[in-house]
Amino acid sequence: MAILVTGGAGYIGSHTCIELLEAGYEIIVVDNFSNSNQESLKRVMEITGASMKIYNISLLNTTELEKVFKRNNIEAVIHFAGLKAVGESVKSPLFYYKNNIIGSINLFELMQKYLVKRLVFSSSATVYGNQEIVPISEDFPLSATNPYGRTKLMIEEILRDLILSDENWCISILRYFNPIGAHKSGCIGEDPRGIPNNLMPYISQVAVGKLKELNVFGNDYSTHDGTGVRDYIHVVDLAIGHLQALKKVMSETGINAYNLGTGRGYSVLELVNAFEKASGKEIPYNICNRRFGDIAICFADTKKAKNELGWEATRGIKEMCADTWRWQINNLNGFN
Ligand code: UD1
Repeated sequence: MAILVTGGAGYIGSHTCIELLEAGYEIIVVDNFSNSNQESLKRVMEITGASMKIYNISLLNTTELEKVFKRNNIEAVIHFAGLKAVGESVKSPLFYYKNNIIGSINLFELMQKYLVKRLVFSSSATVYGNQEIVPISEDFPLSATNPYGRTKLMIEEILRDLILSDENWCISILRYFNPIGAHKSGCIGEDPRGIPNNLMPYISQVAVGKLKELNVFGNDYSTHDGTGVRDYIHVVDLAIGHLQALKKVMSETGINAYNLGTGRGYSVLELVNAFEKASGKEIPYNICNRRFGDIAICFADTKKAKNELGWEATRGIKEMCADTWRWQINNLNGFN
């Protein structure tokens, strides 16, 4: 019996593949490599000394996707595949809805047809919209402010409807806070295409001299130093969270959403400072206007994941920065 991992070549997917292989799972990856690189999976196999089946398939290609279900004995699915850039989703909403929503529906239909009803779904803290209150717990009202966020929210809704129609489904929805860091080996990590949108890859590219300086998006928020506060979580902790969620869906039916965060927030300037210490490099920065759509503070209430999944993040900000730095200096051009 195998675990199907969609989007397994991506940043969080590849780190999860390592943890799955090290825990002895047989895995099958489906990825169209539209925003990732085959090399990441090659390295996953080198690091673990284990092998896996890899299919270069889009979730929009139902004919090919169905062959994966026909040819393999799949026990559960971890569904990462999807587009994730907020700005791009505002410019190309149809592209986002088609890829993320239709792709997911295609997958769920095949799961239903082949009686594979155990699912771990990759959602995001973006489904909490603009919350004023922290820490954010799973029962907070949900909303979205952009097409990317709406795709995550809609897929969550689809899954809640699905389980109402068939109680044999076992579903864990994981709402990620801000994943950063990289595998200890320095061989896999985040490899954004073009200029990074997110803070950590931007900082690390400034540190290696690929980008001149960091633009800090606003220092007039009501936070202790005026810059935005986020719950940064080590990607390996996040990956381990998927294994715990997988155990849960293997053992019981129902649908549950879990925050995967540390429960602690760091400001932009605190992250810059921690990265400077870890790398020994200065990060020049420039304070500029707020980025449209950003909120002041966001961090997780982590109690539910701790109580029900037996999971909590253990890696601190120092390790997150040191591991990002190791990946960045070893791979100046990412996987290329
Ligand atoms: C972003 C997305 C979110 C997505 C998440 C993970 C937006 C508005 N939100 O979250 O939907 O789920 O990434 O991919 O894009 N910052 C700077 N300078 C930069 C980049 C960021 O100052 O060059 C600041 C931001 O204002 C924020 C913090 O750094 O305060 C973190 O930003 P980022 O890494 O982009 O994550 P989020 O905005 O939290």
